[in-house]
Amino acid sequence: MSTSPDEPTVPRPTPPPAVAPAPLLRARDLVKTHPGPDGTPVPVLRGISMEVAAGELVAVVGPSGSGKSTLLHCLSGLDRPSSGTVEIAGTELGGLSRGALAKLRRERVGFVFQAYNLISSLTAWDNVALPARLARRTVRVQNVDRALARVGLADRARAKPSALSGGQQQRVAVARALAVDRDLVFADEPTGALDTAAGAQVLDLLRAAASGSRAVVLVTHDLQAAARADRVLVLRDGLLHAELRGAGPAELLAAVTAAAAPAAGAVGR
Ligand SMILES: Nc1ncnc2c1ncn2[C@@H]1O[C@H](COP(=O)(O)OP(=O)(O)O)[C@@H](O)[C@H]1O
Ligand SMILES: [Mg+2]
Repeated sequence: MSTSPDEPTVPRPTPPPAVAPAPLLRARDLVKTHPGPDGTPVPVLRGISMEVAAGELVAVVGPSGSGKSTLLHCLSGLDRPSSGTVEIAGTELGGLSRGALAKLRRERVGFVFQAYNLISSLTAWDNVALPARLARRTVRVQNVDRALARVGLADRARAKPSALSGGQQQRVAVARALAVDRDLVFADEPTGALDTAAGAQVLDLLRAAASGSRAVVLVTHDLQAAARADRVLVLRDGLLHAELRGAGPAELLAAVTAAAAPAAGAVGR
């Protein structure tokens, strides 16, 4: 067989894109109100629309009380918005029965809670194995072992949460969300209790989890962490105040500071 060296190499034409795939996560006009101290409804989310594509790590930052946790709970199907819609991989959560929503969450969604939410009667190992058990999947011992090793807790697998420090509990919560393959992982301040080195390790894991068909939505106060996201959403008073791509910590700090400042035109009395 001989090929002529003169034969031009024609680049293969790229096939035209099929219909654009639905984003992994899409929220439209999310509104959430909570009853205030006197019972009157207090708006916490005031109309948020956003999308997350497969492969993305999206960070959500904003002042305390701006609605970040509430947003994560609504996006992940843990809580229902007062109005507006959330779709995960094209399925609208509001149209699902409780059972179907629970099934979708078990199969597609991982969540790292701000308050860890570990089961106190279970060891670290069993806490990490729990999502697979709940999804009635085979618990792969090596997946659980690996997830604990990745957060540096291989030697604490048999410990119960009460015997672990806050930072260690937080790392178990991260291992639990990452031990099973989930399309979407939500992490609510997953490095809040960690020192710099452990926090960077958790960030590496979340960064790596956001690839291929998977995406991660991360709420954080840590602007170094947020700077590693593909996109940063700045929340202010339940609204998206800004969206930044490729911003460094300094630019993020400016955006968050602006979000924390009183609205232009607001005058104290
Ligand atoms: N279950 C609830 N009932 C009443 N108010 C709530 C509830 N959850 C959150 N809030 C209020 O909603 C606002 C936003 O809370 P949250 O989403 O936790 O903010 P963040 O995570 O940005 O600090 C706060 O003012 C908080 O007090
Ligand atoms: Mg919060």
